[in-house]
Amino acid sequence: MTLNDIRGKYLAFYKAHGHAIVPSSLLVPENDPTTLFTGSGMQPMVPYLLGAAHPEGTRIADSQKSFRSVDIEEVGDNRHTTFFEMLGNWSLGDYFKAEQLPWIFSFLTDELGLDPARLYVTAFIGDEKNNLPRDMESAEIWQKLFREKGIDAGIAALGSEAQGYERGMRDGERIFYYDAKKNWWSRAGVPEHMPAGEPGGPDSEMFYDFGVTDAAGAPRHDAKFGAHCHPNCDCGRFLEIGNSVFMQYLKKPDGSFGLLPKQNVDFGGGLERIAMALAGVPDIIAVCHWPILEQLEKISGKKYESATPADLAAFRIVADHVKAAVFLIGDGVVPSNSERGYFVRRLLRRAVRYADQLGMHEAKLSTLVGPAVEPYRDAYPETYAARETIEQEINKEEEKFRKTLRDGMREFEKLCESDAVKADRMLPGAAVFDLYQSYGFPIELTRELAAERQLAINEEDFKKRMEEHQDKSRTAAAGVFKGGLADASEQTTKLHTAHHLLLKALQVVLGPTVKQRGSNITSERLRLDFLYDKKMTEEEKREAERIVNEKIAEDLPVIRSELAREEAEKLGAEHEFGQKYPDRVSVYSIGPKGATPEDPQFDKAFSIEFCGGPHVAHTGDIGHFTLAKEEASSAGVRRIRGVLAKGQ
Ligand code: ALA
Repeated sequence: MTLNDIRGKYLAFYKAHGHAIVPSSLLVPENDPTTLFTGSGMQPMVPYLLGAAHPEGTRIADSQKSFRSVDIEEVGDNRHTTFFEMLGNWSLGDYFKAEQLPWIFSFLTDELGLDPARLYVTAFIGDEKNNLPRDMESAEIWQKLFREKGIDAGIAALGSEAQGYERGMRDGERIFYYDAKKNWWSRAGVPEHMPAGEPGGPDSEMFYDFGVTDAAGAPRHDAKFGAHCHPNCDCGRFLEIGNSVFMQYLKKPDGSFGLLPKQNVDFGGGLERIAMALAGVPDIIAVCHWPILEQLEKISGKKYESATPADLAAFRIVADHVKAAVFLIGDGVVPSNSERGYFVRRLLRRAVRYADQLGMHEAKLSTLVGPAVEPYRDAYPETYAARETIEQEINKEEEKFRKTLRDGMREFEKLCESDAVKADRMLPGAAVFDLYQSYGFPIELTRELAAERQLAINEEDFKKRMEEHQDKSRTAAAGVFKGGLADASEQTTKLHTAHHLLLKALQVVLGPTVKQRGSNITSERLRLDFLYDKKMTEEEKREAERIVNEKIAEDLPVIRSELAREEAEKLGAEHEFGQKYPDRVSVYSIGPKGATPEDPQFDKAFSIEFCGGPHVAHTGDIGHFTLAKEEASSAGVRRIRGVLAKGQ
């Protein structure tokens, strides 16, 4: 079964169970200051999990493009990729455990035909300190479901992962209780890490047993991971394929947990991992990236099947990184040194290096774009249509990086010629770090070159500098998350409404061809990217700013409505360029004065946008707006930063 087959069956199954099917959101989250990329299907659903009404109802399903930058270093093993699709289904205060678990079990076993005897499940053991009870209900439901398939499923309380390794599994056990580290889900992780206002809940995960056995037919376990195997062990026998989160709790300002207004389900299943289970092949790249592998084999003259461990990792890294870069660039993230663009740069630079290691040399990375997008022609036609632009961006980045490598090489030669290095036969840590940091010169390459010249590296000094650097980046990453969530409230909401006013003001000043191409709002500032190919003049900037403040002074009502997508389009509602929307949409209109929710007088509104909110009720609540900065973002795209005056 191909990815397309599985995705199609999944969506059809949930549609038959009353779910509205919504399109995937972009990899760049809209109006979500908490993360740089969409890394799970639930991110675009947060407002609805918190209680806002979803325009499509209370049962939603989709397949969401996702990118997890934290997994970049894990790629190369049998199961990790940075880009993947997450199959999702949500109950927004509708069904709960008694429907969720039987449906997903039936989908996997009856619809797809996975052998139930290969499935193992987990549930939340409870957390006394936070007063969160054990999830007995899920365990009971699982027992019943397995019994219906003729399987007696024993229950075991493993608790922590460490205890899992220590105790292992006993005969007949199939349902395992773990603690919050494994069986609690929120965007921020375990209960202690959740900021006030964040939703979360216990979860129940499903694992597929690949049935890896030794020569004697006994389950094989790699003791490097721990004494005994258990579902959450990483030795490769088990693979997590899906997670049902029972989103029913909300972290309160005093640190305790309260209930959300409604009980929700947030299910996420790894499309590629389900494909691995169906194929019975514990290798995500072989199962899901084979067109790229075939092309890489042609280019390199090496075979994936018979690759050395180092080459095997290189094949996987190139295949993953190119696919991820294709989708990111397709969603408007081009390689650069800033925030998101830096991840694409890193992916492509790593891909160039590992492709060279395989022996790519003369061919270009962009020759892998075709094989990467071809399978997604129907599922993501907009990415397929953008393939030439994607190839150009990848070529540009590859050329830049190759020049960097040449410059780095020159710097390296200079270093070798210095008196200090000649005398010590050792490269100082600072110089090696500088090659890495300023020249993008990979450390492994420096090591190889140093070895060729019989030079040592001051590893201790280098390590210290690397650690300092990593600490700094981690702090920055944590800041992005906390900054958004800690204050997802008032200031961000005001800036969000100001953002709508600004987009319209830009169209008034610069013309109707101005289209939004990205947005990011924190409690400090708004950022709006839009299609426009000239620098704005000082007068244009001041005029746009004046219009926004004029609309604020008019204290216009901000009204949310739900409409058929076509109707909203007819009214000229703004939407993000390249974004796809479901059949029924949520729309925010600003003005005219005196409009009411029953009578929004759309045709006379100042601004109408496709949007999930939240917004202030009246523009007068925003305060004074200042257009702080206007600059180029990428070719044909300008970027504006705007702030609100303090104390408003
Ligand atoms: N949101 C849950 C996850 O990402 C389903 O695992």
